[in-house]
Amino acid sequence: MRIFLVGMMGSGKTTLGRQLAQWLNYAFVDLDEHIVQQQGQSIAQIFEQQGQEYFRKLERQALEELVQKYERVVISTGGGAPCFFDNIYFINLHGESFFLDVPVEELVQRLLTQGQEERPLLAGKNIAELKSYLTETLTYRRQFYERAKHTISENSLSPESILSLLNL
Ligand code: S3P
Repeated sequence: MRIFLVGMMGSGKTTLGRQLAQWLNYAFVDLDEHIVQQQGQSIAQIFEQQGQEYFRKLERQALEELVQKYERVVISTGGGAPCFFDNIYFINLHGESFFLDVPVEELVQRLLTQGQEERPLLAGKNIAELKSYLTETLTYRRQFYERAKHTISENSLSPESILSLLNL
């Protein structure tokens, strides 16, 4: 089985994905880290030098490669990944998807402490700007995130709740 975690920046996809992969003894891939390693550039450098559109193409390519390569894997996607090129459709075709539904207030708190520098879309924003950017972005992205096969709310972000939703 392929398991995809989707949701906003700061929703905990990477942390939860790692834990879940360990539980299942599956491979774990963080889509951003995979792209960084492949390109030999940070996400910020890719955005700055090649632009966001190019980054979105890399995300799609990486999803296609990973689906080819792995049958037992947990993939934490970047926050925007499901929202371009109908990637959420592609994801659902190839695995089980989970939307980590975390409220904006909580995302703001986490992102303020988790470092905004490596996230070019958040760099240089103060708390008010961060909050309004995340609110607007989540409002738009919900239509994609909600097409995930399962939703997990903030208070059940654990490998156990994913496994029980999968009847494992
Ligand atoms: C992005 C989220 C980031 C990363 C890039 C763009 C987004 O991933 O892909 O900075 O558009 O929401 P995380 O969700 O892992 O932070």
